[in-house]
Amino acid sequence: MPALQFMKWNAQLYLKLFVLAAVVLEYISADAPEIQKFSFQDDILEGKRVSVMCLVASKSKAVNFNWFKNGKEISSSERNLKIKNDNEFSVLILDPVNLQDNANYTCKATNIHGSDQHTAYLNVKAPPKWLETPKDIIATIGDSVIVTCDASGSPKPRIYWKKLSDKMNTTIFSTSKEQVSNESSHQLKLSSITYDAAGLYECIAENGVLNKIRSNFSVIVRELPEIEKFHFKENVKEGDFVSVVCLVKTGSQPITFLWYKNGNELIISNKKMSIENSPVISALILNSVTTENDGNYTCVAKNNFGSDRHSAVLKIKASPKWINQPNNIITVIGDAITASCIASGSPTPQITWRKIADSRTQSLHSLNSTYLNNSDSTIKISRVSYGDSGTFECTADNGIQPSIKANFTVTIRGRRV
Ligand SMILES: *[C@@H]1O[C@H](CO)[C@@H](O)[C@H](O)[C@H]1NC(C)=O
Ligand SMILES: *[C@@H]1O[C@H](CO)[C@@H](O)[C@H](O)[C@H]1NC(C)=O
Ligand SMILES: *[C@@H]1O[C@H](CO)[C@@H](O)[C@H](O)[C@H]1NC(C)=O
Ligand SMILES: *[C@@H]1O[C@H](CO)[C@@H](O)[C@H](O)[C@H]1NC(C)=O
Ligand SMILES: *[C@@H]1O[C@H](CO)[C@@H](O)[C@H](O)[C@H]1NC(C)=O
Ligand SMILES: *[C@@H]1O[C@H](CO)[C@@H](O)[C@H](O)[C@H]1NC(C)=O
Ligand SMILES: *[C@@H]1O[C@H](CO)[C@@H](O)[C@H](O)[C@H]1NC(C)=O
Ligand SMILES: *[C@@H]1O[C@H](CO)[C@@H](O)[C@H](O)[C@H]1NC(C)=O
Repeated sequence: MPALQFMKWNAQLYLKLFVLAAVVLEYISADAPEIQKFSFQDDILEGKRVSVMCLVASKSKAVNFNWFKNGKEISSSERNLKIKNDNEFSVLILDPVNLQDNANYTCKATNIHGSDQHTAYLNVKAPPKWLETPKDIIATIGDSVIVTCDASGSPKPRIYWKKLSDKMNTTIFSTSKEQVSNESSHQLKLSSITYDAAGLYECIAENGVLNKIRSNFSVIVRELPEIEKFHFKENVKEGDFVSVVCLVKTGSQPITFLWYKNGNELIISNKKMSIENSPVISALILNSVTTENDGNYTCVAKNNFGSDRHSAVLKIKASPKWINQPNNIITVIGDAITASCIASGSPTPQITWRKIADSRTQSLHSLNSTYLNNSDSTIKISRVSYGDSGTFECTADNGIQPSIKANFTVTIRGRRV
């Protein structure tokens, strides 16, 4: 039975070889652990939960896991950190993840035969968020101001500036007037401000994560109103139409106007007077003027920053008009007589007297000062004689046509008895 014997012996040999091979195989496979490469997701947003798995891909025994953040060991005891271990893998969980978690994370797997490690970089992204936005700016012409807009975010947001004008929104680069301190800067410098700098501005922060954010602010240029000098035209006559314009040369809107006459606010009391206002002018209109309209007119222009005023005097020229005309006088020789001629007008009329010497010659004499007392509006004859009888004429004249004349007669009827 040698054949059977041989087979049995052979089988024993195979079994021994198999066991040996198994032992050798096991020795070979029980190698140092080998980690499968891992990485964090690309678009992780701040506040979310993030995890990464460190898997031992090789068949290895009794593996111990350690995690390192930028080379420093970390453990589950940390605030937002959890580590879940199993025989073949370890999971690192950050919940909620924030920008401070951005780091290199290393997983190290160790067993009795050795170790392996793999590092992945965590890059948490955060949309832009304002740290500082500008308030509205009120500046005076010539001022220089620096405006700051600052935003956090990851990656660091780019900040740029726009002026929102009526037609186009222009992005501000470095110009002589408006300077951005750096190409992408959180500071905008407006130097020696002019009226043109006024307007609505916007700063925008953008980093490619979610939406850009914008913040707007106004630059208000403070300008006091300044009235251009005005005056009434000369030689305004009664009945004329008179207007005067109070123009504000410079000044921030809104501007309000007020008119005063001789220090009192002008009340529009009738249709003969009106005031027409527009943003920069106020027109005072007087129809068919009389000397009642004479006065010192003041225009006051006011805005939020101050006021200006200008005054002009209106003096209406009026031809003479009688207030008192002389009556005919009948008297006796030796009596005293007086006669007055009083006229209004602007300027004040000059009164001149003449005597038509007698009805026969019709010649005219200017009356000399012996007839006149203090004022030229009255003549006085203290003792009349026959020679004083006749027709007298007084004329009121102020250069404004027509001048006016009045006659009166002095009639003498004998002597006092
Ligand atoms: C992470 O590792 C890379 C590659 O070694 C290195 O360039 C980078 O500076 C590291 N980052 C940090 C935050 O340590
Ligand atoms: C300018 O910007 C404002 C605010 O962002 C926007 O409402 C407006 O449509 C823009 N105008 C133009 C012409 O782009
Ligand atoms: C940009 O800003 C930095 C810091 O504010 C400053 O040191 C640097 O000079 C600026 N660069 C330019 C070109 O203005
Ligand atoms: C400016 O900002 C305010 C408040 O954020 C907003 O209501 C307004 O529409 C903005 N104006 C413009 C022109 O963008
Ligand atoms: C007119 O009024 C203004 C303001 O009350 C005053 O300053 C000015 O002297 C006045 N002018 C005249 C001629 O009275
Ligand atoms: C004024 O008139 C009277 C009467 O006509 C005359 O007597 C007198 O001399 C005159 N005086 C002068 C200064 O002309
Ligand atoms: C002039 O008038 C004043 C008062 O009106 C009077 O007192 C005076 O006597 C008069 N003079 C003459 C010369 O008549
Ligand atoms: C005044 O008397 C003269 C002479 O009689 C006459 O010519 C003239 O018209 C009279 N004037 C008036 C206003 O009555």
